[in-house]
Amino acid sequence: MNDQNLLSCNVLKKSYTQGNNKINILNGINLEVLRGQTISITGSSGSGKSTLLHIIAGLDSSDSGNIIFNGKNLNNLSEKQMCILRNKYYGFVYQFHHLLPEFTAIENILMPLIIRGKILKSETARAHDLLSYLKLDHRINNYPGQLSGGERQRVAIARALINNPLLVFADEPTGNLDNFSSDTVMEIFFRLQKEINTSLIIVTHNAQIAKSTNLQYFLKDGLLHSDLN
Ligand SMILES: Nc1ncnc2c1ncn2[C@@H]1O[C@H](COP(=O)(O)OP(=O)(O)OP(=O)(O)O)[C@@H](O)[C@H]1O
Ligand SMILES: [Mg+2]
Repeated sequence: MNDQNLLSCNVLKKSYTQGNNKINILNGINLEVLRGQTISITGSSGSGKSTLLHIIAGLDSSDSGNIIFNGKNLNNLSEKQMCILRNKYYGFVYQFHHLLPEFTAIENILMPLIIRGKILKSETARAHDLLSYLKLDHRINNYPGQLSGGERQRVAIARALINNPLLVFADEPTGNLDNFSSDTVMEIFFRLQKEINTSLIIVTHNAQIAKSTNLQYFLKDGLLHSDLN
């Protein structure tokens, strides 16, 4: 980790309207993320954790406030520019792996590069290295339906990291795994994260995982609190 700022969220607000009711979800979120820094966000179900990640990732829009990522104000980007930024600099791991069932493990890992257009030999080699690192050598050509839950999550992690992203979002990445698989997946995830020096924002209900990050926040009443007590 170094002191270089990667992401700033400034007074992000978001509400949903249901009938005549306005429901405030985010009430002025401020968040700073440094290069290589890991941050966990906990909070009760419905508190707005996924909403916040989606807004930072440009998959949803805020009502007000701004996000500066790598020196760029994301409010000023077109939809297309945001897609390119997401593909190049962001990685995602979700609770359910979201692997494409008709593609093999290695094809799923290479998918962000396939979408971009051209795959270099060095990138295919890197995908193999990642699979090996994740102890999935013997599963390269298996389809997601032929993998266990933990193996699928490891493939999803490799896919999130294949681009050497600057920032990885993980939304309850182990929410669907037993304790043993969860520990294994997280250990590998944090090791790779350090090696690549990618920043990580992880949403989790698991207190132990939350504690293992550089900074811990919880989301309550639409605001991030750093005091866990
Ligand atoms: N499109 C939408 N329209 C209306 N309300 C929405 C919409 N999307 C989310 N919400 C509401 O916003 C709130 C926050 O949802 P969000 O998914 O961010 O919660 P969360 O903290 O990720 O919860 P969980 O831990 O269960 O995943 C919830 O009350 C949800 O019902
Ligand atoms: Mg959620």
